[in-house]
Amino acid sequence: MKNSKRILSVVLAAILGVSLLAGCSGSKSGGSFKTVQSGKLVMATNAAFPPYEYVEGSDYMGIDVEIAGEIAKKLGLELVIEDVDFDSIIAGVQSGKYDMGMAGMTVTDERKQSVNFSETYANGIQAIIVPEDSAIASVDDLSSDTSIGVQQGTTGDIYASDDYGEDAITRFKTGTDAVQALTTGKIDCVIIDNEPAKAYVAANEGLKVLDTTYVEEEYAICIAKDNEKLLDAINSALKDLKSDGTVDSIVEKYIPTEG
Ligand code: ARG
Repeated sequence: MKNSKRILSVVLAAILGVSLLAGCSGSKSGGSFKTVQSGKLVMATNAAFPPYEYVEGSDYMGIDVEIAGEIAKKLGLELVIEDVDFDSIIAGVQSGKYDMGMAGMTVTDERKQSVNFSETYANGIQAIIVPEDSAIASVDDLSSDTSIGVQQGTTGDIYASDDYGEDAITRFKTGTDAVQALTTGKIDCVIIDNEPAKAYVAANEGLKVLDTTYVEEEYAICIAKDNEKLLDAINSALKDLKSDGTVDSIVEKYIPTEG
């Protein structure tokens, strides 16, 4: 009897403690989160992925860049952008080199084992780019005999390697490099996110995006698992930016809705 009472009071104390703690971290501003460099929000990205991130002149541009700028503003931080290989972003965030990764990055269960993801802020589709005169008309025409170009470490790479086998896949550092190889006939198609696919096709003659969906996905910001306070702060900033229409107007600026 006595024992079970004691257990109960310990449990109650634990519950109380947890709810008090939760109350603390709920306090929004106040800078309770840590960043790599004080006063700064260091974002790792791979800026060859229009309209999400790309370089124009000496400026970083794109949907992710602008949303990140608004998040930084809300958190009272200066945004710093590090342009790195896509497949080094998660490791860099995990090891505390960068505060966050924002790169049209798809949420996957496997990545969730290494990092936390914010609420999603956009949807993506893995699409297929082919030369205008290609015999490939839909995803059903892909096989292990197709020579498929992908950006290394992306979901396009992961899914296509799974579906068609390593031998079918050629990996490139950037989507731009993959598209370059397609224009020179080195590969048969490129599997990459739909909006960048459209941007690459607009910038390169003789290519088209197939009207077929390979995979549908969601984009989010990744943050180190041990920085939950930053995750909370970013989520609350994102929530505000979504509900006040900022995210929509940034997306509309780069991907105008037709009509
Ligand atoms: N959505 C894909 C992924 O997460 C591709 C992202 C590539 N992003 C970039 N900035 N290059 O794997």
